[in-house]
Amino acid sequence: MRFSALVERIAGEGADAWLTHYEARRAHERGEDVILLSVGDPDFDTPEVVRERAIECIRAGDTHYTPTSGRLPLREAIVALHAARSGQTVSPDQVVPLSGAQNALFSSSLCLAGPGDEVISIEPMYPTYPATIEVSGARLVRVPAPPGKGFRIDLEALERAITARTRAIFFATPSNPTGVIMSEAELAIIGELARRHSLWIVADEVYAGLAPGGRVPSLAATLPDRVVTIGSLSKSHAMTGWRAGWVIGPREFTVHIESLVMCMLFGLPGFIQEAAITALGIAPAAESQIREYCRSRGEFMRRELRGISHLDCFVPEAGMFMLLDVRATGLSGYEFMRGLYEAEAVSVLDGGAFGSQTGGFVRVCFAAEEDVLREACTRIRRFVVSLPPAATRRGGST
Ligand SMILES: Cc1ncc(COP(=O)(O)O)c(C=O)c1O
Repeated sequence: MRFSALVERIAGEGADAWLTHYEARRAHERGEDVILLSVGDPDFDTPEVVRERAIECIRAGDTHYTPTSGRLPLREAIVALHAARSGQTVSPDQVVPLSGAQNALFSSSLCLAGPGDEVISIEPMYPTYPATIEVSGARLVRVPAPPGKGFRIDLEALERAITARTRAIFFATPSNPTGVIMSEAELAIIGELARRHSLWIVADEVYAGLAPGGRVPSLAATLPDRVVTIGSLSKSHAMTGWRAGWVIGPREFTVHIESLVMCMLFGLPGFIQEAAITALGIAPAAESQIREYCRSRGEFMRRELRGISHLDCFVPEAGMFMLLDVRATGLSGYEFMRGLYEAEAVSVLDGGAFGSQTGGFVRVCFAAEEDVLREACTRIRRFVVSLPPAATRRGGST
């Protein structure tokens, strides 16, 4: 039997990146002594008031179809959060609730580009980006944010990458995996290029609530006609499993997202929308709790890793991840990830999953309890110490 060309575009790297993580998760579920630091899922519960609200709504029978474009109070709550974060005031019909930021990225990709077009994104990039961008038929063009520049975007390479076919620039700020936040100065240049070449900007702000002050610099207020902002409650409220996210953009764009929702999602469950309204109502407190949690766990992790020879931490500006530079061990990120898992049952993510800039790194999620992090670092140290000298394994060249 035959499949569509689309199945080719959604297979590959992005999906493979998670195989070790899934293997580790299955072992963990079987009760094996596995430490999972490979996924960005805070290890504490969704706030109780949010869970209670969902339960109350289910009990009250809020289990039927909902308006496909989302309930007005939810859209209004997102409008308020977005205004506080970006300074942009939008109307509720410029907001569409979707099933997580991932669903919002996918929908935006389908509505903004297609076959024959090019879409730029910044490497390292979240592993779903290549398939999410190319599912539309557009070609992904990668612009580096290299380790030698502290993983900040190479703006000259960005300018060179723009062609007559370019339709959009996708990026995450703060970035996953680097935790780098786009600066005002970088955004000003990106905005100018977007204006000059008539491009869309898709700003994935799924980690914005974890940035200092709960916000990141944004172009939304300066370029309201071409900026699409993506957000969700997954990271800021420990709500990864609720699949509550949104997209915000000019009305001429959200009208198409609404049509897509009609044929793809048909609206978020009512009890999820009501719980999301409650979550947005406590956003400042929930976000400052997770920021403090991540700050203290990130510092703890850095202290525990200090002194392990051949390993270097890249300190994030925000978020729940840290990149470990493993190049001095002589291993690639993939080899380090597999070796560490097989020898010490610690699951981290190969930096290569985010593209070639991070091929010599692994990504560690530190949103976990201190005793878990301490034990993980003990195992990482033991693994690194057990490695033969890098020079020997690489035939004398390090
Ligand atoms: C940069 C980035 N964008 C989007 C997502 C997906 O988020 P959500 O759970 O809201 O779909 C993630 C999840 O880790 C992410 O890291």
